[in-house]
Amino acid sequence: MMNTFPEHFLWGAASSGPQLEGASAVDGKAKTVWDHWYETEPDKFYQQIGPKNVSDFYFQYKEDIETMKELGFNSFRTSISWARLLPDGKNVNEKAVVFYRDVFTRLIDNGVKPIINLFHFDMPYHLYVKGGWENRDIIHEFAFYAKTAFECFGDLVEDWVTFNEPIVPIEMGYLNDKHLPAVFDIQRAFQAGLHTMLAHVYAVKAFKENAYKGKIGIILNLTPSYPSSEDPADQEAAKWADVLFNRSFLDPAVHGTYPNELKQFIEREQIELDYEEEDLVWMKQYTVDFLGVNYYQPRRVQAGDTDPAHDVLQKYFKPYQWPDAKMNPHRGWEIYEKGLYDIAIHIRDNYSNIPWYVAENGIGVEGEERFIDNCLGEVQDEYRIVFMTDHLRWLKKGIDEGSNCFGYHVWTFIDNWSWLNEYKNRYGLVRLDLETMERHKKKSASWFYKLAKRNALPENW
Ligand code: BG6
Repeated sequence: MMNTFPEHFLWGAASSGPQLEGASAVDGKAKTVWDHWYETEPDKFYQQIGPKNVSDFYFQYKEDIETMKELGFNSFRTSISWARLLPDGKNVNEKAVVFYRDVFTRLIDNGVKPIINLFHFDMPYHLYVKGGWENRDIIHEFAFYAKTAFECFGDLVEDWVTFNEPIVPIEMGYLNDKHLPAVFDIQRAFQAGLHTMLAHVYAVKAFKENAYKGKIGIILNLTPSYPSSEDPADQEAAKWADVLFNRSFLDPAVHGTYPNELKQFIEREQIELDYEEEDLVWMKQYTVDFLGVNYYQPRRVQAGDTDPAHDVLQKYFKPYQWPDAKMNPHRGWEIYEKGLYDIAIHIRDNYSNIPWYVAENGIGVEGEERFIDNCLGEVQDEYRIVFMTDHLRWLKKGIDEGSNCFGYHVWTFIDNWSWLNEYKNRYGLVRLDLETMERHKKKSASWFYKLAKRNALPENW
């Protein structure tokens, strides 16, 4: 049928351990960089809400998993906390094993396939002080953690993800001050980025060599780059934005090699990188089985400056504000639904039509209590329903034209804590009351149930 999605399409939501679990200092979990940052600079966090007791999934997961079933989910993605599973990096925390095993078992028992990610921005603090992604040792620390997770949960989990948006800690921590170490240093950014990619490769290697069951992939925030005009200089700018922000992780993950343009950039900017020859051999050999794509917004760019004051990237491209852009004013992100179709076709044509799914798509809105209907006591989040419907229409077109997309996950299930905005913008299908930690379904929750159960867009309901 025209508006029906492929059989066995995955419907559900995505979240992450540090944004959902809370209990950040409970049952032996060690500190992450976020716990440390909040301890030392709480003013940096919106309304001074830190990562310690967020969303309470650690204590309410049994009821929450029942709710997932009521929302029609057949899948759910979250992440394991490295600092909870291996507090000192070496010894397994049995309490973490008990917690995660029960979560995964209950998900499966409720017909919700767990897709389990290993890293969602939450570097253990003891590794951060040793240099984090800048220290080559992190590659083997991460591979050991990955192998530990496969051993502890491999009988329950068949869909593994190494990283969520690996470029974000690099971009936000080494070319911005939004993640630690909060410096601007292109040399350090590239070395940290290379080590992140190699940590991924060595984790995939551990998975394949030991023949664990299931599949392993990576989740990338692909932002299609659109030039501001037909002018060749603007077109060139879009190419550079794509090379640096999409292809830098996409090409090695799927094709097993870095793009030549990235090598040119490294030479031109005289960036020196440490690696071993065999790293590249394993990169070529251990590519992913599937891709997750987080899509919120496109990247619009124009030609760069010949002599930028301090931001080296501005030589290559500069941001461009499209006058016709439809904006989400709460997050300051453009809403461009067709971007999802463009991604679908790009993967079909340039990335071997690898199996992929929409691993995050959603809208964060401030002050959602304005939309609570007094009689129903429910947030009337029509805007979220419209947002998802419009994106799904473009996704469906991409699938109809042959793109190998197997699912759609909304960001997110229950309103969760965010790195930069804490609880300012709410993304959930379920509202979280911050005072009581009670959960209340929003209007979009029952809409999502119908979507998932009918496996079709609303025209076919
Ligand atoms: C994604 C991340 O980039 O966007 C999530 O994987 C994040 O962790 C989400 O929360 C929404 O962004 P934000 O900054 O509004 O929370």
